[in-house]
Amino acid sequence: MTQLDAVLRPPLSDPAFRRDIVEGLSASPKATPPIWFYDRRGSELFEAITRLPEYYPTRAETAILTLQGTAIAEAIGVRRCVVEFGAGSLTKTPLLLRAIDPSAYVPVDISGDFLRDSAGILAEDFPGLPIVPVEADFTRPFTLPAAGCPKRRLGFFPGSTIGNFEPAAAVDLLRSMREALGDEAMLLIGMDRIKGPDVLVPAYDDAAGVTAEFNLNLLLRINRELGGDIPVGAFAHAARWNDNAARIEMHLVAKRAVAFDVAGHGFTIQAGESIHTESSHKYDGRTARLLLRAGGWEPVEEWHDREELFSLHLAKAAG
Ligand code: AVJ
Repeated sequence: MTQLDAVLRPPLSDPAFRRDIVEGLSASPKATPPIWFYDRRGSELFEAITRLPEYYPTRAETAILTLQGTAIAEAIGVRRCVVEFGAGSLTKTPLLLRAIDPSAYVPVDISGDFLRDSAGILAEDFPGLPIVPVEADFTRPFTLPAAGCPKRRLGFFPGSTIGNFEPAAAVDLLRSMREALGDEAMLLIGMDRIKGPDVLVPAYDDAAGVTAEFNLNLLLRINRELGGDIPVGAFAHAARWNDNAARIEMHLVAKRAVAFDVAGHGFTIQAGESIHTESSHKYDGRTARLLLRAGGWEPVEEWHDREELFSLHLAKAAG
């Protein structure tokens, strides 16, 4: 393949992407899984979101790791093998690794490229630390490499990614982490706290329009990779606080009635109807502990940032 081919040929369409989008657009109400936001452009836009003044979660979680590193390390104990669910943030992961002096670091991510990039950068900063990247979809049952990371594991799941899952699916995920990590494991997990829509809605609908672009980028990706003809300009970004479900929802709202094709299927949407593209569930202390227990984890300790916007929970494998 020449370089020009690589530029001109649309990216190979992932059959799972096609299936999820066709199913999601056929459902009523229309809803698509948030994993598909993260193509190259989507990942860049998410990075930009983490730096927005309105988007507090990344700053708050980083502040917890910075200010409470010693307390976290004491509660965890030394020489654990850290298994991170996700490729690893280049700011948060080093803070944890420095605080707890682990025996090894095992990032688990579905995207091999991303995984190798971040593992390579971390390896430079932690020359003595064995780093064993595992390319796997951690939302499905998977096994960890026994060599180098045998016991005393610490699962690390920052970012409040757990919030993207419906509670029942979050329980399943916690249970499969418990299964993969074993009886001596602990889990350090970030959850975004419940607070007023005055703070939550702007965090997902910022003044600069970056989150809107992040949401609308899904339509561009569908058009490009699934041969779609969605008129992107006919959709508007919306962030809504669903108080009953304690979650922020992102929607793409049709400004007018639209008919479009995706992957050879025809779809229609009415004016005012929306595609529900993401839910971000929020947890207070009690509901977070309830979720952990339902998922096979016994809560040990919890830390907040100074403004109590975000929480890091430490739990141990329940017997
Ligand atoms: C990466 C899932 C934690 O829910 O806050 C940010 C994604 N969506 N702005 C979140 C997101 C819109 C983010 N997570």
